[in-house]
Amino acid sequence: MTERQPKTFYVTTPIYYPDSDLHIGHAYTTVAADALARWYRLHGVDTFFLTGTDEHGQKIERRAGELGRDPGEFVTEMAGRIQDLWRRLGVSYDAFIRTSDPRHQRVVQMIFEKLHRQGDIYRSRYEGWYCTPCETFWLERQLAEGSCPDCGRPVELLQEEAYFLRLSGYADRLLDHIRRHPEFIQPASRRNEMVNFVLSGLEDLCVSRTTFSWGVPVPFDSRHVVYVWFDALINYLSGLGYGSDDPLERARFERFWPADVHLVGKEIVRFHAVIWPIVLMAAGIELPRKVFGHGWLILEDGKISKSRGNVVDPGTLADRYGVDAVRYYLLREIAFGADGYYSEAALVHRTDADLANDLGNLLSRTTAMIERFSGGRIPEPRPGDGVLREAAARAVRETTTAMENLELSAALGAVLEAARRANKYIEEQAPWELARLPGGGDRLAAVLYDLAELLRVLAVLLSPFLVVAPGAIWEQLGIARPIGQAGAADLAWGGLPGGLPIRRGLPLFPRILSRGSANAPR
Ligand code: MSP
Repeated sequence: MTERQPKTFYVTTPIYYPDSDLHIGHAYTTVAADALARWYRLHGVDTFFLTGTDEHGQKIERRAGELGRDPGEFVTEMAGRIQDLWRRLGVSYDAFIRTSDPRHQRVVQMIFEKLHRQGDIYRSRYEGWYCTPCETFWLERQLAEGSCPDCGRPVELLQEEAYFLRLSGYADRLLDHIRRHPEFIQPASRRNEMVNFVLSGLEDLCVSRTTFSWGVPVPFDSRHVVYVWFDALINYLSGLGYGSDDPLERARFERFWPADVHLVGKEIVRFHAVIWPIVLMAAGIELPRKVFGHGWLILEDGKISKSRGNVVDPGTLADRYGVDAVRYYLLREIAFGADGYYSEAALVHRTDADLANDLGNLLSRTTAMIERFSGGRIPEPRPGDGVLREAAARAVRETTTAMENLELSAALGAVLEAARRANKYIEEQAPWELARLPGGGDRLAAVLYDLAELLRVLAVLLSPFLVVAPGAIWEQLGIARPIGQAGAADLAWGGLPGGLPIRRGLPLFPRILSRGSANAPR
């Protein structure tokens, strides 16, 4: 890593609504956060990765009601299913926060009460429009033809006594913070949107409800429950140990806060880049370093969403194509930040082209040649022509820069570029001819060593992104140490000892489609 390496790294995903099973769009955010967390751990950075479920609110209460279930029991089952999905996708979170956890609720009440005491939360009457699927309040003038401007669904007129958060009083401080910290909201296009949003005038936010009861009670007025977004955002504090009775948890909070990056979808940047910093300022807590708003995976008929019924189950995809194919596709196909079309055909194509052809073939060709020309053992290292050494160094450099800029797709692109270079190198060097050349033995050994060594380094570089293949590459190269123990030092050239007996195995990524197959999934 470069001098930009932090001492600790705290990354979060949004906490998901457990009203139904998650889809590939949700997996996108979580797998990206997982790759970041694994990347920093690989570099020896003390890392904390938080995800969880956003369990309160009208949407969940209604859904449980429709199913004739108790909301608490319903969300417990759903949270279990979500954890199971993350397990199937190899997601290595350090903690899973559920907002129905009493420890979380206590922190919400603590902050609500503090803000109320100091006058940042006050009681008044609310009259306006509410979108339940988005759990969002709108002003009449913000509606799009009478419907929710975000999702286009019908809104409901609400009139009730409620508590309000004084956003208006913090607009200048927030704008000043955004100006002084250009990295706070990323990408830059989202920052501009947020600046314009704040400049257009912040209305105070309604932060309590009386029309349903599935939420955190307002501590001093039990007819009200806390607005679900106020409740949810606080997970980033409570999930780390803020306000805990346990001194170890409090120490963890001190160690990791402020968050290095909140990864969120673009439609919820506003909550994270406007409301959340204002809650924190009011509470006297440092602001997160970065809110990154990524784009959406869309299908040809629009954004994937549960209520549109066009969902794609990531667990099924992982069963069908393997967890690495799904992770690779999500991280490589779309520049992180932009929108992109999802299709199963593109997933298959990516897997075959990059993982089966470029990476998988490189490994099988290399191990086959070591078996044939080197008695099945890695040749002793010797000075070669430096071509692959340079390709590996470049991949390490480019991946590192890309990860620091949250360009996950570019990071993977750099690794695959090195694999393609190595395949070309095999053609250029034609080891099968070197083997027949009198006195070609030294060059042959140098070529084979460099190929194996490049694969060793690429496996380490891939280990934050893929969860099966990197370990399989190490095993086939005969490296006994589990790749899970690899660190940044393993990215240096020359780590592979000569003499290791290789262990050829099954192809890393068997091709899904035979060439020219007509049975491509749509
Ligand atoms: N519960 C709130 C978040 C609270 S965070 C304090 C929420 N939940 S959600 O389940 O609706 O969505 C969670 C995340 O999934 C959002 O970041 C959203 O952008 C992301 N995605 C949902 N569908 C998506 C796509 N089709 N594509 C990419 N991301 C998408 O909002």
